[in-house]
Amino acid sequence: MNEITITRPDDWHAHFRDELMLKETVPASARVFARSIAMPNLKPPVVNAKMALEYESRLKEATPKGNDFKALVTLYLTNTTTTQDIIEAKEAGILAAKLYPSGATTNSSAGVNDISKMTPVFEAMAAQGMLLLIHGEVTNSDIDIFDREKTFIERYLSKIIEEVPSLKIVLEHITTKDAAEFVMNGPDNLAATVTPQHLLLNRNDLLVGGIKPHYYCLPILKRNIHQEALRKAVTSGSSKFFLGTDSAPHMKNDKESDCGCAGCYSAPVALELYAQVFDEMDALDKLEGFASHHGADFYGLERNKDTITLVRDPWSVPQELEIPGKGKIVPFWSGQQVSWRLK
Ligand code: NCD
Ligand code: ZN
Repeated sequence: MNEITITRPDDWHAHFRDELMLKETVPASARVFARSIAMPNLKPPVVNAKMALEYESRLKEATPKGNDFKALVTLYLTNTTTTQDIIEAKEAGILAAKLYPSGATTNSSAGVNDISKMTPVFEAMAAQGMLLLIHGEVTNSDIDIFDREKTFIERYLSKIIEEVPSLKIVLEHITTKDAAEFVMNGPDNLAATVTPQHLLLNRNDLLVGGIKPHYYCLPILKRNIHQEALRKAVTSGSSKFFLGTDSAPHMKNDKESDCGCAGCYSAPVALELYAQVFDEMDALDKLEGFASHHGADFYGLERNKDTITLVRDPWSVPQELEIPGKGKIVPFWSGQQVSWRLK
């Protein structure tokens, strides 16, 4: 197959950042996706409906004229989020709230310290039909970084599901066989997003032959058996897995540093790379479900009506992108070949 046409896809996990960065990130997503879930880990974080609506209008302003791309803003849960915040968010049309365990990742210091205290907030979300999006990693210093996702599932996710069984949960950017199996065998209201980097790479790619800062993201790349399990899960056709790029730009200097930031900026190339993975797995027929149907269905939204076409026509990803007024970004897969191109 050299050409594939699918329903226009959506991205259920993306970091657009703010201000000058939006001129790069919003058009990069809008070129191919109809909708993107916009992560709320700004500085300061998006913690209430008012801030979310203001962010939504900045995202809208950065959308190219004539493009009907929609960024779906989310709420950042903190230790002081109230059930009233949830009710107001729902009234403002916000579909989901994000749980960052405090200190788990970029701009998560305002996140939640004690998840067991969040039950009333989760109950309010379930009552309002709002989705809970989870960065599923524990932050305890005695837990090895490669075990943090598995431990989160055992210690916290199982308990949340048990305590608030009607809550719709997306375990974001899963990275392990354990997470894939847990989601696959879990209740219908539990699903997961998977990034291009966790399908294309494992920790050898990050660390063998020299450290690759542009492959550093959180949750960190795992060993190859986990990569294989994720590749099987997304190409299985299961509606519990859907596209979430976790596209997360950082300036080149901040990544190539003695304390480099976590995140891969994949929006300019993500869909093409997913297509490459599905092609390698001989499962291009499953791409449309993963990229365009399962996420919309899980969120309870209509599927997109228009289509996009990908053609087999190799191209090279630019080495760097210039962000006017800010500096350079190295996009994910920079300088490497991609076998599919957007027509
Ligand atoms: C994300 C970021 O930079 O905001 N980084 C990352 O490594 N994925 C945050 C996140 O999703 O963990
Ligand atoms: Zn993210």
